[in-house]
Amino acid sequence: MMPPHLRFRRRSFLGLLFLFSLSTSALYFIYSAPGIVNEYLFMVQARGVRIRENVRSIGAQVLEQVVRSAYSNGTDYPYDFSLNETDAPSSPYLPMGFTYLSSDVCPERLPTMKGRLLVDMSERSMEDVERTLLQTDPSLLIGGHWKPQDCVPRWKVAILVPFRNRYEHLPILLHHLIPALQRQRLQFALYVIEQAGYEPFNRAMLFNVGFREAMKDLQWDCVIFHDVDHILENDRNYYGCSDMPRHYAVQLNKYSYMLPYDEFFGGVSGLTAEQFQRINGFPNAFWGWGGEDDDLWNRVQYAGYTVSRPLGEIGRYMSIPHHHRGEVQFLGRYTLLRHSKERQKLDGLNNLHYSPVVSRRRLYTNITVALSRDLALVADY
Ligand SMILES: *[C@@H]1O[C@H](CO)[C@@H](O)[C@H](O)[C@H]1NC(C)=O
Ligand SMILES: *[C@@H]1O[C@H](CO)[C@@H](O)[C@H](O)[C@H]1NC(C)=O
Ligand SMILES: *[C@@H]1O[C@H](CO)[C@@H](O)[C@H](O)[C@H]1NC(C)=O
Repeated sequence: MMPPHLRFRRRSFLGLLFLFSLSTSALYFIYSAPGIVNEYLFMVQARGVRIRENVRSIGAQVLEQVVRSAYSNGTDYPYDFSLNETDAPSSPYLPMGFTYLSSDVCPERLPTMKGRLLVDMSERSMEDVERTLLQTDPSLLIGGHWKPQDCVPRWKVAILVPFRNRYEHLPILLHHLIPALQRQRLQFALYVIEQAGYEPFNRAMLFNVGFREAMKDLQWDCVIFHDVDHILENDRNYYGCSDMPRHYAVQLNKYSYMLPYDEFFGGVSGLTAEQFQRINGFPNAFWGWGGEDDDLWNRVQYAGYTVSRPLGEIGRYMSIPHHHRGEVQFLGRYTLLRHSKERQKLDGLNNLHYSPVVSRRRLYTNITVALSRDLALVADY
């Protein structure tokens, strides 16, 4: 349990932009909570702030002041109020009572996908989640493997969740995600890749390990890279892949439901297994949080892909509030990002070595792996 004054700040922070309309009190709040704001600004900076949708002048001005004062070296942040989701305007969902043959490929826009979900962040035990899910659908197999019985799944999706020290988050995620995937009639399984040892958290390398291990189970054709603290708010956010890499977590409550910047590729993203192999996976060299998702974005661009995104509210997520509990920021990320292109060939799936401990849990496969720098050496370039 967190001290009450911190809890207050945090909840206030989630409504950051709403507070902006109160202008002066908002400014006071922001300057009084520098740590939290830093976390926000980290997301907002990178290659320029792209604030979009209906941030009205006062909010934008206040935000700009905050950004400038935190990064006071005179960098200019262009604002962009335009929408930039790439899906075509939503085509209709199938009507209730629509029938399909079990020999048909499952439709993508099923009537069971109702849209907005009730998100419940209250802590629960894994046993509770298991019980509820199995009562609803006993065909959920060990390791969280599931496939629809009433149609042929369009995609076989491996959900990879990098993990360390967030035991209370995992049941909350599974409680929301598994039923949504079932309603989307995808074949799926969940892989939790837990980092052991004392090195800084390496989200990207965990994804590479997860990918390799998951592919030993089954020839997955779509891979979703999913943070444990991201809860989808809309079950029409379809977790299948497409001909282009996809960014699912477009609007996050902690960023006031705005995309922090156009190239943002964090939170929840997905590629076909083929695309992921083609870009040589994630970089392994990002120790500590930050930057690896930008590097993935670069890799995707160099391979000639453009990222697709769900439209409007469909891409909304709620994040489970927390601090980067002892996890350090990766300060070298900008240096590495300048050499994304050169490193893409040298660092990724192709230079990765590791020895995992794999165990099957009821709702996921646990891949525990100790990571260290010598497991993915890169010759100097
Ligand atoms: C601002 O620039 C100066 C000189 O280029 C540098 O020493 C300083 O660390 C920079 N400050 C920040 C916050 O980046
Ligand atoms: C959205 O982003 C793409 C690629 O970055 C760009 O080509 C397009 O013009 C943008 N659309 C809008 C409406 O800003
Ligand atoms: C995964 O397995 C390891 C033992 O190999 C265990 O210590 C850890 O708690 C497990 N993590 C999860 C999320 O199940």
